[in-house]
Amino acid sequence: MDTFVPIQTLDVEAEKQITFDLFVHLPLNQKYILYRRKGGQIEQNRFEKIIEGSVNNFFIRQDDYKTFVKYVAGRLQGLIGTECTEQTVRMMSSSTRALLASTLQQKDTAMVRVLMENLKDITGVIIESVMERSQIGSKISFQKMVELSNKGTDFHKHPVNVASLAVLLTMGIGYNTDRILSEVAMAALLHDVGLAHMPTHIIARSHSPLELSISDRRLLYEHPKHSLELLKARRVKMSPMIETMILQHHEYYNGGGYPKGLRGFQINEFSQILLVADEMDQVIAGPIETNRELKYKISALFDQYNRELTIEPTLLSRIRSVIL
Ligand SMILES: [Fe+2]
Ligand SMILES: [Fe+2]
Repeated sequence: MDTFVPIQTLDVEAEKQITFDLFVHLPLNQKYILYRRKGGQIEQNRFEKIIEGSVNNFFIRQDDYKTFVKYVAGRLQGLIGTECTEQTVRMMSSSTRALLASTLQQKDTAMVRVLMENLKDITGVIIESVMERSQIGSKISFQKMVELSNKGTDFHKHPVNVASLAVLLTMGIGYNTDRILSEVAMAALLHDVGLAHMPTHIIARSHSPLELSISDRRLLYEHPKHSLELLKARRVKMSPMIETMILQHHEYYNGGGYPKGLRGFQINEFSQILLVADEMDQVIAGPIETNRELKYKISALFDQYNRELTIEPTLLSRIRSVIL
């Protein structure tokens, strides 16, 4: 018997040939019905009706999953390295939105996890290709890190999730060069390596430092520096931008971050993107309140950024427009 996996509705593009059989699920009699055959397409008006009818998911056969990942990644990949015109920026923003939207519309924690995995597979294809072309991080294989992280705890999954989100956000706000995307991916993959050697109770509260004693907190606040020192000791090749992003991934625009308490434009724009991706992952990994979309929690996080001036306001509204 076929096994089916859910995919985001918006991952499928209207008026474009699909490369896999597409199914809808009838919850009443627990049946999967073939909606479009491989090679077919969904007409624009039909597609709009589906979206209006708030059908969040299609289903595909598990065997088609790899083909599906290629199909979606191809859509974004086609925009990488092209001239950054107003139209490319718009297209990147809408593709990113499409990728994130149905994950954020979920009210069910289990479904969020499945869709996040989809997302990682899709961004994985993009990250591997930009890294290969830009020769940055040639020794790091994203897919290998995904495999390792799948065997590990949430702590091990975190860098891979953050890389996936950070690359999407970066593309979503209009950056599409191999160099920038691979620097963002690499910084995200490595940002917390300095945490690994800290006591487990500190790691567990690394995103709620106020629950730690003052001395533990002091230690935690050193982790961006530790990450950098550790990587340098292991002779990992990093560009100045990667170093800056790792060092600044907990700095706040309002000066309230760490380790240095930098403020305003002392903080690099991409470090702020990394911070948003980092904290979004905390929210996504956490429990979802029943009957509340994940979107609601992300939106609350963004409201807090806005109130507290954690993120530079123009950048914040650009990121927000990609997500919410
Ligand atoms: Fe961190
Ligand atoms: Fe982190």
